[in-house]
Amino acid sequence: MEPVRVLVADDKENMRKLFAKILADGYDVETAQDGASALALVASRAYDVVVTDIRMPGADGFELLAAVKARAPTTEVVMVTGYATVADAVRAMKQGAFDYLEKPFDPDAALAVVARAAEHKRLVDAARLAAAPGDPDAFHNLVGRSPRMREVYALLDKAAHVDATVLVLGETGTGKELAARAIHYHSGRRERRFMPVNCGALPGELIESELFGHARGAFTGAAVAKPGLFEEARGGTVFLDEVGELPLSAQVKLNRALQEKEIRRVGESTPVKIDVRIVAATHRDLREEVRAGRFREDLFYRLNVIAVTLPPLRDRAEDVPLLAAHFLDKHARALRRELRGFEPEVLVRLAGYAWPGNVRELENTIERAVAVAGGERIGLADLPPEVAAPPAGAAPAEALAALPYRDAVAGARDRVTREYLVALLTEFEGNVTRAAERAGLERESLHRLLRKHGLRSEDFKPA
Ligand SMILES: Nc1ncnc2c1ncn2[C@@H]1O[C@H](COP(=O)(O)OP(=O)(O)OP(=O)(O)O)[C@@H](O)[C@H]1O
Ligand SMILES: [Mg+2]
Repeated sequence: MEPVRVLVADDKENMRKLFAKILADGYDVETAQDGASALALVASRAYDVVVTDIRMPGADGFELLAAVKARAPTTEVVMVTGYATVADAVRAMKQGAFDYLEKPFDPDAALAVVARAAEHKRLVDAARLAAAPGDPDAFHNLVGRSPRMREVYALLDKAAHVDATVLVLGETGTGKELAARAIHYHSGRRERRFMPVNCGALPGELIESELFGHARGAFTGAAVAKPGLFEEARGGTVFLDEVGELPLSAQVKLNRALQEKEIRRVGESTPVKIDVRIVAATHRDLREEVRAGRFREDLFYRLNVIAVTLPPLRDRAEDVPLLAAHFLDKHARALRRELRGFEPEVLVRLAGYAWPGNVRELENTIERAVAVAGGERIGLADLPPEVAAPPAGAAPAEALAALPYRDAVAGARDRVTREYLVALLTEFEGNVTRAAERAGLERESLHRLLRKHGLRSEDFKPA
């Protein structure tokens, strides 16, 4: 069997030496002494297991974890943590780390964790290979085997291999960012950077300098010249997330930059050539935005060369069990809970629920269920009430007729309330003060409603 390839990233030499010694037998160990060199290594080489310190100069363990998972989702990451950072380690596991080692650790325990991680990766890789070619259950980080998702995978694969601009569409939580990353990491640009920017998170003036950079003294606060994302991503991919939120003035400049394949830093007149692929995403109906005069038609056509639409989860309920199992595995490991799966009626409810927040909402639901589960399996009691309750509004007539009037109406009201809250928070990106203003509610009442419906405003904030 091939030796297991391990990268050890730690700024302390004694730790690097220790791991080299522990893993001397049967492992192929490389080391990095800071986050930046670790990032460079994982960008260009394939590892089975990455062992990383959480706190390092350059890039920290979280950045490394994200880079590894985006590039090679089956590579397992083990976090090394001091007593003070155990909470961080738990967070890392939620973000996909395999396990963590708390210092000081026993060398045998460290060896056992790395061996388990390597074995897990081997099994997952084998399972992926076994899935018939052209018939996958997953694409890069996207999980799902419905016909609609298979069409999406085929299109993403095609898009990855041409250098065209891609517009990713879909409701909130459908996996638009994952799709953008999948395109980058399947493209010829994969060794270069993937640079995401949330166009809705910055005011107009800042977005321009973020994208195009600025000269020294271009505006108050611009003490030094700074390259923008387009320059920094050279050779890579720029992901324009929430592109529908881009102010019109920035749309004009973006359109010109894409047309001329060059940019000018704010406050500078010399043009700079750019070499990036653009992937843009929005949850809005851009044609409607064009009709309403909020989005420039020329930019729309320039972005919309290849359009990939991610279907809402309610249109592919057959993916729910697979996704639920995937998230159960992920969060059970993160929270170190041994759970054997779901009670059957739970899967029925999960598949029947409308998931207005799509895959993100499903993941949050499973994460919460794992945390509160009392038994060996996730039961109905571990689900939020609106998921556990039979769907009054969407129920077939006879199920509806089986309910007392009060329950049927209450169920429908709950469902609509929840949909409303999701729409409201999506619109205001988790800003409760502004959302409450629009809703005509006191902030406190809105908070109460959110709690009641198991929604968290943070989940609607841009990443
Ligand atoms: N097909 C999928 N397989 C596995 N995980 C998924 C899938 N789709 C979405 N997710 C998970 O759901 C969450 C939301 O995904 P993502 O951020 O890509 O959605 P989005 O479409 O960009 O949402 P928004 O419009 O709210 O920004 C993430 O945690 C992501 O990992
Ligand atoms: Mg997104």
